[in-house]
This record gives sequence, structure tokens and C-alpha cells, in this order.
Amino acid sequence: MGRVVKVRAYCSAANLGPGFDMLAVALNAYYDEVVIEVEDGRGVYVEGVEGPYASGSMLERNTAAEAVKALLEGFGVEALVRLRIYKGIPTGRGLGSSGASAAAAVAGVARLLGLNVDLSKLAYYAGLGERVSAGSPHFDNTSASLAGGLVTLTFDSSGELQVVRVPFKGYFSVVTPMNPVPEGKTGVMRSVLPERVSLSEAVRNFSRPAVMVAAAFNGDLELFGRLMSSDEIVEPRRSKFVPCYGEVRRAAFEAGALGFSLSGAGPSMIALAGSEREARRIAEAMAEACTCCDGPLVAVASPAPGAEVVG
Ligand code: HSE
Repeated sequence: MGRVVKVRAYCSAANLGPGFDMLAVALNAYYDEVVIEVEDGRGVYVEGVEGPYASGSMLERNTAAEAVKALLEGFGVEALVRLRIYKGIPTGRGLGSSGASAAAAVAGVARLLGLNVDLSKLAYYAGLGERVSAGSPHFDNTSASLAGGLVTLTFDSSGELQVVRVPFKGYFSVVTPMNPVPEGKTGVMRSVLPERVSLSEAVRNFSRPAVMVAAAFNGDLELFGRLMSSDEIVEPRRSKFVPCYGEVRRAAFEAGALGFSLSGAGPSMIALAGSEREARRIAEAMAEACTCCDGPLVAVASPAPGAEVVG
């Protein structure tokens, strides 16, 4: 038997409205765990997937395995890696389920192999794994699940991913419709987005996440929430795929939400609240308005810790 570690990584809500691919928050609503075993040899194998959201297909093309392969290749390291995955995060719901498994797996492998790798590099390799589930890589979910809390990210002019943690306190109501979603849902939801937007649209929309980061630093939840609810480019094109989006959004604001957005590519929806009690009340109102599906999942969450060793 090789060296073994168990790593937990939490779900995440990416975008937070206008912060497409550049803002995400890890939430303590759901988590995945990955048991990672490393020994001499070569190859990356998923030996088991269990838990409420496990499926047989995860044994074949798996984001976590793909991410570990990218990490090993990036570092020019040979190892035999076996993964056993517990899926506690609903899959295909915009909660960064595949990103969380990938984050846990690369964090565990880097630790066992003693690789000198910082948060940004780990998030990069974990995000490459998303090619399997989303068709193209994205790095926001993996960054949040690795770092914990709120993160902002960009690629610098040399093409290196830069991930920065942002101090943030707040509560979220999370409502997850469980209707069937298309195969490769994130890829499909990315394909409905425009190739080009005008300069004025781009400036108006993407100045908002910049100010959201400042608002988070200043503890200004009202401003954060107002801007979170203001995406004009991505969310209007995706919200039509969530039949009860309008009703749930209205119910959230009527119940006192400070902000509202899709979580990642949806269909989960999140609302921002100033206290756990308010988040609970808002979550109930959102769930009641979520009539497009039977028994949506409902959770109240706050920013989660980053990927952590739990065994
Ligand atoms: N930023 C990605 C997207 C997150 O919105 O496509 C996917 O969960």
C-alpha cells in the first residue's frame, strides 16, 4: 500500500452574477471527499465512486483523474495514483461538483508527492480537469474549493492564472432544482453565450465584479448584493433555461435578499443575506416559489474552508 490521504473540498457558487469565470465562493452546504493513494508506478485510476451523487460514468471520464494527470504532466512527475471519491455535492447543478473533486484530488497528490505548488498553480491544474465535464477548462470553481471563501481570479499577460482570496462574511440561501439537465450541461450553458460583446457593455458589466471585491473588503453586503444581481451578459441568456428563475428571484427579494444570482451555470440559485436567520427565511421563500420541480434541495450556507486533509 502506498501513501494515503483523504481530502475534503466544498461546493462553490461561481460567477456571483457579473463575475463570469472571475469570481466564486466556496460554500459549506455540500462537500466531496477524495481518498488519494500514491505509489511508485505510472497511471491515474478512479477505483471507486460512492455517496448520494455518485454515478457509474464517473469511473470512466473523471474530472479529478484528468486534473491529477494534468498536474503530474505539468510537473514532469511519474506516479501511480488511485482515487476513491465520495460525491456529496449534487452533480450538474451549478454547484462546482466536478471542480470540488478535482480540487481535493490535486491538493492530496501535491501533498503526498511534496510538490512545491501554490494555490494559483493548483487551481490551474484542477481547472484543466473541467475539460471532461464542461468541454473547456474553467478555473473559478476549483479556485474557490481549493482556497475556501471568496476568490477572484484572472490570467496575467504571461498566461499564468492568478487566484486571490478576498475576505468575505455573509450568508447564502441555496435552492437547487432537480429537474433533468442536458448531458454536458455546463458546456451547453457556455455555448449559449455570445462570442463578442461591445466595449461599453463589457466595461459596464465587468466593472461590477471589481467593485464587488472592494465591497467584500469593506464588508458592504448591500453593495455586493446589488451588483451580484446585475449581470447583463451571461445570466439573462441562461436564466431562460431555469423555468422558475423569475419567480424564485422575486420571492428572494420579497423575503429580504440583498442579492440574487444563478450559481455557476445553474440551475441552482443563490441569494445573499446578512444573517443566518434571514438566509433561512429567504431560502424557504425561494423553495416555495421553485414550482418548476418537485422537492428542490434547499440549504443555508456561509463561506467554506478550503480543501482540507480529513484523514
Ligand atoms: N464560470 C463557469 C460558467 C462556472 O459559468 O460556465 C460553471 O460552474
